[in-house]
Amino acid sequence: MELPAETLRDACVARRSNLAARLGGVTAVIPAGRPVPRNYPANPHWPFRASSHFLYLVGASIEDAVLVVHRGESTLCLPQATAEDALWHGAPPSMSHLAHGLGLGVAPLAELPALLKGRTVGALPPPDAQGQAALEALGPRAADAQVADAIIDLRLRHDAAAVGGLERAAEATVAAHRVGMAATRPGIPAWQVVGAMMADLAHRGMGTSYPPIVSPRGEVLHNHAHHDVLAAGDLLLADVGAETRGGWAGDVTRTWPVSGRFSKSQQAIYEVVLAAQAACIAECRPGTRYRHIHLTAARVIAQGLKDLGILRGDVDGLVADDVHALFFPHGIGHLIGLDVHDMEDLGDRAGYAPGRTRSDRFGLGYLRLDRDLEPGMAVTIEPGFYQVPALLEDPTRTAKAGDRLVRSRLAEFADVRGIRIEDDVLITSGGPRVLTEAAPKTVAEVEAAVGRG
Ligand code: GLY
Ligand code: MN
Repeated sequence: MELPAETLRDACVARRSNLAARLGGVTAVIPAGRPVPRNYPANPHWPFRASSHFLYLVGASIEDAVLVVHRGESTLCLPQATAEDALWHGAPPSMSHLAHGLGLGVAPLAELPALLKGRTVGALPPPDAQGQAALEALGPRAADAQVADAIIDLRLRHDAAAVGGLERAAEATVAAHRVGMAATRPGIPAWQVVGAMMADLAHRGMGTSYPPIVSPRGEVLHNHAHHDVLAAGDLLLADVGAETRGGWAGDVTRTWPVSGRFSKSQQAIYEVVLAAQAACIAECRPGTRYRHIHLTAARVIAQGLKDLGILRGDVDGLVADDVHALFFPHGIGHLIGLDVHDMEDLGDRAGYAPGRTRSDRFGLGYLRLDRDLEPGMAVTIEPGFYQVPALLEDPTRTAKAGDRLVRSRLAEFADVRGIRIEDDVLITSGGPRVLTEAAPKTVAEVEAAVGRG
């Protein structure tokens, strides 16, 4: 187990005290979770990673531990290590070493029920089913919603230690994308590009914050298959993000031509997506409603496709009828922090401001975030263009577009299956700060970076 550096420990002390201040008399229970077996307990999914709420407040991944915060007092409840544990996994740190290293009180897990007795309790869910069952066994909880709102209020705006984590994740993510571009050439399977990118992350002691998406079939939005062999005319879509040792996430997508040169049709659509991204990033300012930024992307994409002759008609009408969403069916992005989709374990409670709910419109329903932006928030901006057969060949989806969708012209862009361009943006009082801006992005930058390895 890696204990936090002193600065992170102090940041966690401050975070716990900020949480307590939001809780009033409520006692918060935050389990780390436990390793999930792949097939039997001694072969778990690796590495173990505590729940993000726990990591945020404790600064270390400690299997099966439970943090209790009550009126400014924090207690970490730990399972008793057995002699067998020490044999296979090494002797655990002593309780006093942990108490000092983490800046909190430490108690055996067996004392947890007594700690909660007679109190108004709320808990944050651990990610694993067994951990959830263990939580249920502790008894009824009246204040889950209050604890969720308190942690959301804290994690929405990143403190200095969190920004440092995001910066490190961004730097490694950018480096991995450069390596991926350099490693690309016709004739190799996509997994060789994935391997090069993950090796670069591993070399830095990092992993990935979500399963890598690296595919010439970019129209499959979350395509985790890596066996396709890259052909010279393909675009390769790579959506890969680093996870730092402390658990902070990067999330970048770049799309590059396998040959090192975009075709005319590929470049034309790439420029539309790039223009949408630039317009959206410029709007990442305090006070802007995130849904407004999504609609900006929709309008720029609709206008760009109209200029190319793929769509026709009034741009506002195209967006109002979700015609743009035939090609850009997902949301413009999401919160990013310790989770790549930060705090989505709490559902839309984190992403949607109180009083706002998801739209059931096709063009808005996949929007994961609808808050007014504030300094300290970090979001992704990831517009895209995809030719998804399941949408374009479904008459119930395309009926509204009618003859505004010009299929004869669209056919001239058949070598564009999927393009997404994604960066991580920190909102500051001075405007947007693109943490991942060093990843090659313009046509010239991308072409210069491909196939150099
Ligand atoms: N990087 C994957 C996603 O944002 O959904
Ligand atoms: Mn993303």
